[in-house]
Amino acid sequence: MNSWNDFIRECTACKRCGLYSGRQNVVIGRGNPKPVPLLFVGEGPGEQEDIQGEAFVGRAGKLLDLLLEALRIDADCYYIANVVKCRPPQNRVPTREEMEACLPWLRYQVKALKPSVIVCLGSTAARAIIDDEVKITQIRGTWIELKGGLVVMPTYHPAAVLRDTRKREDFFLDMKKVRSRLIEMGVNT
Ligand code: URA
Ligand code: SF4
Repeated sequence: MNSWNDFIRECTACKRCGLYSGRQNVVIGRGNPKPVPLLFVGEGPGEQEDIQGEAFVGRAGKLLDLLLEALRIDADCYYIANVVKCRPPQNRVPTREEMEACLPWLRYQVKALKPSVIVCLGSTAARAIIDDEVKITQIRGTWIELKGGLVVMPTYHPAAVLRDTRKREDFFLDMKKVRSRLIEMGVNT
């Protein structure tokens, strides 16, 4: 893969795991394919994302967009991707095998987009990126530094926040930390 276009072409044709058979679209991500300070990683496409071929366009995505707007984080500053690019049936959590099969695509996205900060939206993303065994309720809101210097903020998945409004405040606080960190880094959000 030499370019983003090659990546799109190869990822769109991917059959590395069984999720390919139920998909309508491979959902690569949302945002400009150019270096961005901030990368969000969700779990995998839901129904609307599968139909429209775009990440976080359903209810969870609307909540995320609202929050980003409220925090004045410009759409130019971020890209939104998922751990798996094809919708798991009935939105079940992707299996370890499915995640492992798909992770090279996300790794390519990280290499190409060169984010300074990654926000893991929910436990699937946190497990894929930080550690296999983490519990999102325990680690959310704390900065974690990966090898190579990338910093990661784990937080709740916006769909979980929609289901349980008690999570709303923490979700908001975590995202405020992200915004402060970007400002500290000199990013004009
Ligand atoms: N949930 C996710 O994890 N990803 C999406 O793209 C949409 C909903
Ligand atoms: Fe390929 Fe990922 Fe889709 Fe599986 S989920 S078929 S690995 S793009």
